Amino acid sequence: MEETSLLWLFFLISLLSCTTNQARLTVSPSSSQFFKRDFVSLSCEEDDSSAGWTLRRNTSKQQRTQCGDGWGKPAGYLCNISVLFIQDAGVYWCESREGPISNMVNLTVTDKSVILQSPVLPVMEGDDITLLCKTKTTPSNLPAAFYKDGSLIRKQPTGHMTIQHVSRSDEGLYKCDISGHGESPSSWITVTVKPSSAVPTSSSALPPDYGSFQLAFRVVLHLVVFCPYFISTLLMVSLYRCRGKAVHLNKRHLD
Ligand SMILES: *[C@@H]1O[C@H](CO)[C@@H](O)[C@H](O)[C@H]1NC(C)=O
Ligand SMILES: *[C@@H]1O[C@H](CO)[C@@H](O)[C@H](O)[C@H]1NC(C)=O
Ligand SMILES: *[C@@H]1O[C@H](CO)[C@@H](O)[C@H](O)[C@H]1NC(C)=O
Repeated sequence: MEETSLLWLFFLISLLSCTTNQARLTVSPSSSQFFKRDFVSLSCEEDDSSAGWTLRRNTSKQQRTQCGDGWGKPAGYLCNISVLFIQDAGVYWCESREGPISNMVNLTVTDKSVILQSPVLPVMEGDDITLLCKTKTTPSNLPAAFYKDGSLIRKQPTGHMTIQHVSRSDEGLYKCDISGHGESPSSWITVTVKPSSAVPTSSSALPPDYGSFQLAFRVVLHLVVFCPYFISTLLMVSLYRCRGKAVHLNKRHLD
């Protein structure tokens, strides 16, 4: 009976530690658009290094192939693609053996001469973001026009544009254009809402520190994870002590 309850506890522990693990896929250089023949390094950053994440991708030709399986060069938690081709365009993500997946990243590879460098990961509401319009051949920045959802939003003589304090309304499909060089592909920019502003009421109606709720939640989660360890250790110790006593008594009885 004790054995089954112990097994149950271990099952609970592994279940809980699974849900607390998180991986984050990052791209370096930080861009979702690349020129053909560019270099890119992708990495699965994680909370718990024992989880064993693999980087996978879907392209138009193949699905769920992992780094090293016909593409990319695995290097620890990195996966390097030293020469990008058009066929490398696709969705990339990190996946653990247990199933959970990280954020997904869309990579675009172009053989044209202009790209837009925009944030790869979702941006937090209130942050500042910078968009850069680059040509393949000119090292210095050229004047560029920036478009959101098909309409011109700004012309910048320096080729880069900063959007301050982004809000949900800045979310959309962006592209840029450099006169004489052409247009970049389009990339989607995602804006995520901060937990403190996710509640539609005014800030006065909220507890002063919403972040502390999340902290408390994590603490409770960790307690729930570690308590079974503590309890099962106690259980085992008491079992041994009981058995020891029983043997001792039996011996006395025989004597
Ligand atoms: C990748 O392709 C598989 C098989 O078609 C599909 O089930 C999965 O949802 C795709 N993943 C992403 C992130 O697009
Ligand atoms: C992968 O790229 C990183 C730079 O991003 C470099 O430090 C590392 O040596 C490369 N590894 C391999 C195996 O090419
Ligand atoms: C990736 O791009 C495809 C096609 O443009 C789009 O349907 C999909 O939603 C994108 N996924 C992400 C995670 O941005």
